[in-house]
Amino acid sequence: MTPDSGAPPSPKTTADTLKSKTSLPVIVAPMFLVSNPDMALASCKEGLVGSFPALNQLTSQGFEDWLIKMNDGIEKLKKDNPGQTIGPYAVNLIVHKTNPRLEEDLALCIKHKVPVVITSLGAVPDLVKAVHAYGGIVLHDVTNIEHAKKAAAAGVDGLIAVSAGAGGHAGTRNPVSLVNEIREFFDGVVVLAGCLSNGHDVLSAEVMGADFAYMGTRFVATKESSADPAYKQMIVDASATDVVYTSAVSGIPANFLKDSMAKAGFDVEKLKKEGAAAGKLKPMNADGEEAKAWKTVWSAGQGVSNIHDIPSVEDLAKRLETEYAEAKEELAKKLGIAPAKPKAAAPKAPKP
Ligand SMILES: Cc1cc2nc3c(=O)[nH]c(=O)nc-3n(C[C@H](O)[C@H](O)[C@H](O)COP(=O)(O)O)c2cc1C
Repeated sequence: MTPDSGAPPSPKTTADTLKSKTSLPVIVAPMFLVSNPDMALASCKEGLVGSFPALNQLTSQGFEDWLIKMNDGIEKLKKDNPGQTIGPYAVNLIVHKTNPRLEEDLALCIKHKVPVVITSLGAVPDLVKAVHAYGGIVLHDVTNIEHAKKAAAAGVDGLIAVSAGAGGHAGTRNPVSLVNEIREFFDGVVVLAGCLSNGHDVLSAEVMGADFAYMGTRFVATKESSADPAYKQMIVDASATDVVYTSAVSGIPANFLKDSMAKAGFDVEKLKKEGAAAGKLKPMNADGEEAKAWKTVWSAGQGVSNIHDIPSVEDLAKRLETEYAEAKEELAKKLGIAPAKPKAAAPKAPKP
């Protein structure tokens, strides 16, 4: 993303650089068992940041195949679409001792110069330096201020503020309060996550002080996602009250669709009362199989209320762009700011 100087880019420049490489300030969030290179490339083609978690491939070798596919794919998109903004792509790494592949996967990110590395759980200065050395940037996802400060101290370029109601391992913080507090000590890239489903939400994230919107659940329900068709349909049919925040599935609080939990043998009403305090449980489904987090129990955020279809990534991205432009116009009207008019033609010189 920056020249290969090894020196950390200034925070402001990084936000501007990343924005200049996208046509809409949207990062399609990495999602376990859902994101894949086709979905990421379709996102990049529309000028968004596409992504996937390294662990969506079973082995580091498979992960390297995906990186090659991404780099070749991006190059081809640029060649086939001259003048069009092709977004950069991102890879999510779980930086924790429970991830035995971290070292190998990071080495592959360095080898293939992954433009954006999204770290979860641990923010490590050595990793940040290694990514900066080849010109990449690091965004780190956080749900609270303690972790945000640690990540900022580790030198990350950006913080992803995962607010209450988000899909996956959501936080409990209100987005307004979380972004405001992060902005008090951090002037790098701020990305807001949680229930952002349309172009109006993207502009809202920016108005709140974020640079980018991070969209997960909205993209589970796309044609290209690897999610089970029944999972996509469940998102379309669900409303926010169908989302349960519980630690019962994986031991860490996350948001799941209640019907998928019930099918997997969980007592949903009980879990709703217990909330994040349930602790990991091991219910069996009707066939006596243990419910597997993410595979049989499906995660989604409260944004499901605003998701009504399963479009292709291309159609969704184009719609987001239109809605974003409309939102800007509506905001300008509300604020009494005249929308930018096309430049008036220069007055003709009087005839001699
Ligand atoms: C099915 C699913 C799987 C997810 N897997 C991951 C993951 O592997 N790594 C990660 O950093 N975040 C993961 N997330 C969280 C997303 O990256 C993102 O923070 C979240 O989806 C944003 O909120 P939203 O779903 O309300 O848009 C996942 C989210 C979902 C819905």
